[in-house]
Amino acid sequence: MARILVMHGPNLNLLGTREPQLYGQTSLAEIDQELRQCAMAAGHELETFQSNHEGALVDYIQQRGAQAALLIINAGAYTHTSIAIRDAILGVGVPVIEVHLSNVYRREPFRWQSYLADIAFGQVVGLGSHSYMLALQAACYWLQQQDSYTSPSP
Ligand code: DQA
Repeated sequence: MARILVMHGPNLNLLGTREPQLYGQTSLAEIDQELRQCAMAAGHELETFQSNHEGALVDYIQQRGAQAALLIINAGAYTHTSIAIRDAILGVGVPVIEVHLSNVYRREPFRWQSYLADIAFGQVVGLGSHSYMLALQAACYWLQQQDSYTSPSP
């Protein structure tokens, strides 16, 4: 059993009502619930965290990142600005998958820049709330692979 962290950055607490044409109608609570169920079915523990504050996100990574097997993060607008979040992830050394609900590459050029892209082992973008689910599936698959490398052969 591994612990997977899912982090949501600023304004993602408004999912469901925030620009639904871009971000869909599913609320953050619904997304978290589905992720938790899916992780549990795969035998993993999933912990979620949302904050609108960069420092709180950094604190959470510092406090919880080192004990986690993997981090799935939608840093929202901080994706495009935050060296602090990038450094926190590098500081604790947790493997990361970057997620976005919208296809940031079809949007304003300032969203094309990500401070996480080159330290993430994968990105899932543009698939609405399914982006999170696909990231979780990839995480479970990756954890299983890790397991089969580390388990002693029968
Ligand atoms: C977002 C994309 C960001 O550019 C934006 O600031 C968000 C949401 C997404 O999930 O599509 O807050 O991360």
